[in-house]
Amino acid sequence: MDGTVRFTDVYVDDDIVDRAASVLRSTRYVKGPVLEEFEAKFAEFCGVDHAVGVSSGTAALLLAFRSAGVEAGDDVFVPGHTFFATASPVLSLDANPVFVDVDPETYTMDPEDLAAKAATAENPTAIAPVHLYGQPAPMDEINDIADRYGMAVVEDACQAHGATYRGERTGSLGDVGCFSFYPSKNMTVGGDGGMLVTDDAELAETARRIRNHGRDESGTHVELGLNYRLDEMKAAVGIEQLSHLDDWNAARAAAAAKYDERLGEMQGIETPTVADDGSHVYHLYVVRSENREALREHLSARDIQTGIHYETPAHLHSAVVEQMDETPTLPQTEILCEEILSLPMHPRITDEEIERVCDAIESFVGVPA
Ligand SMILES: Cc1ncc(COP(=O)(O)O)c(C=O)c1O
Repeated sequence: MDGTVRFTDVYVDDDIVDRAASVLRSTRYVKGPVLEEFEAKFAEFCGVDHAVGVSSGTAALLLAFRSAGVEAGDDVFVPGHTFFATASPVLSLDANPVFVDVDPETYTMDPEDLAAKAATAENPTAIAPVHLYGQPAPMDEINDIADRYGMAVVEDACQAHGATYRGERTGSLGDVGCFSFYPSKNMTVGGDGGMLVTDDAELAETARRIRNHGRDESGTHVELGLNYRLDEMKAAVGIEQLSHLDDWNAARAAAAAKYDERLGEMQGIETPTVADDGSHVYHLYVVRSENREALREHLSARDIQTGIHYETPAHLHSAVVEQMDETPTLPQTEILCEEILSLPMHPRITDEEIERVCDAIESFVGVPA
């Protein structure tokens, strides 16, 4: 079969284009009713009282940390195995990221390592579990540790729109949740965008204020903020995309089940482990191989796109290393980053494409074990 098996795919239809065009024609581009509608729908989707649309997932995290009271010198626990943007807002507030290792099976924050590090921290203030690849972190254990030290829990749900943990949606599992609508995510707004969600009315109000230059209802700038707003046109795209999200997540899960079935039999390939207490929305379908580089080249030679999320652990990027007194060692994170490979995954991937990827992997590893 010819053609490239694409790693990801973005959906656009006439409804999306028409809704965005109607905002363009209205000439009301910011701070309007379309964003309010998107926020209300997204809050309902997550099962929370408040949603605050912002300019990116990174902005959501920054506003969440600030609104939850993180200040210079505070310790914020973040996993080593994540995108840089979980940690960079912490550093930009002059707070200290304390990097925690991940569970070798699920790749989410390891509660044991978290508990050990929290016990010796000077100013334990917040925990930022990441629902990595679309799988919720072990929130019961993390919330217990947060309660023990009076810490806030800021969920980085940037890869996990719609995933559930013990029946509840991500974003509703801690004090505040953060989402990204970057185009490759499970839903987008047609460009960069993000959302902060919470049940805490005061926290939501603070985030809304910081999003808009720290300005209160009376128009006074009562604290330092910048412009982190989400445009009306993007909100319009978001409303349409959100209406498809459950179906798209189901299609991702079905594609993952097909991958699991074939790849689970292959020697030297480790397929994702899903914890019993959650659902996985497969933002990424990530396998492990000790021959990752050779496997990647083998797939590339057969026109199969892949990705690596992430090649460098968050705590080993030079921008982080230079700001920390000591660079921690996180054994599970560091070995993972050498072995992981993200396979093509999106709601419209076909059975033939999945078969082609699996055939190519089989020809790399040899016959089924
Ligand atoms: C885990 C994680 N955190 C944070 C972000 C930052 O989101 P954004 O790219 O919208 O700023 C992303 C997305 O790229 C992410 O995957």
